Amino acid sequence: MTRTVLVTGTSRGLGLEFVRQLRARGDAVLACARKPSSAAEAADVGAEVVALDVAEPASIAALERTLGSRPIDVLINNAGVSGQDAAVGGLSLTEFRRVFDTNTIAPALLTRALLPNLRAGRRRVVVNISSQLGSIAAATPGFSYAYAASKAALNMISARLARDLAGDGFTVVSMCPGWNRTDMGGPNASLMPADSVREMLATIDGLTPGDSGRFVSRSGEDIPF
Ligand SMILES: NC(=O)c1ccc[n+]([C@@H]2O[C@H](COP(=O)([O-])OP(=O)(O)OC[C@H]3O[C@@H](n4cnc5c(N)ncnc54)[C@H](OP(=O)(O)O)[C@@H]3O)[C@@H](O)[C@H]2O)c1
Repeated sequence: MTRTVLVTGTSRGLGLEFVRQLRARGDAVLACARKPSSAAEAADVGAEVVALDVAEPASIAALERTLGSRPIDVLINNAGVSGQDAAVGGLSLTEFRRVFDTNTIAPALLTRALLPNLRAGRRRVVVNISSQLGSIAAATPGFSYAYAASKAALNMISARLARDLAGDGFTVVSMCPGWNRTDMGGPNASLMPADSVREMLATIDGLTPGDSGRFVSRSGEDIPF
């Protein structure tokens, strides 16, 4: 069955790999990128490239107008930025705002905007790409405060949406892709995006409303909040 999947941040990294693999298996893909010209590879594999700067409410509103009432089966909130404030002395208002705008507030507002499209779809699945670094139980030292906090807050958004949309048959999860060799993960990362995305898609395919509210690894195992 062909599905329609909307993925954010598809110019490179995991977002682009999601597009490649979804298209390879025949899904219809709405590939969002803040600069459509940067998503040429997504267009080459047959995705429909749509402009979206997730951190700009006006851009989300423009996307709503472009999509109209088109059904979406799965929304993958993938676009994200890392932070530079790994030490307490480096904490900065500007950095917190920049990282939260993209990693936390954007997935919440985009999900709200696309609820009618998701309701019209057949799966009603929302996947928020989070990170193990957002686990409060682990509170892993050495990484950006803003990034870790933004993903912990994203996990709360997932948990709240899961509860509030349960009556509507939605499945909302936070998912960690693992440490990947992308611009964000760097060249020493342990995973290749192709392998991580293959595992994530298998997990996403198997999600049911009973999974809603979980924080899971790429293979679907629970990660402590
Ligand atoms: N790589 C890892 O090891 C790792 C681990 C855990 C979680 N994650 C998460 O996985 C997701 C993807 O990460 P990645 O490794 O693929 O990162 P990446 O290679 O740095 O790519 C980030 C993507 O997000 C897009 N983006 C950033 N800000 C945006 C905005 N305001 N509007 C629209 N698009 C925006 C970028 O677009 P531009 O090209 O326009 O900048 C790019 O396409 C992120 O949510 C990240 O936090 C990654």
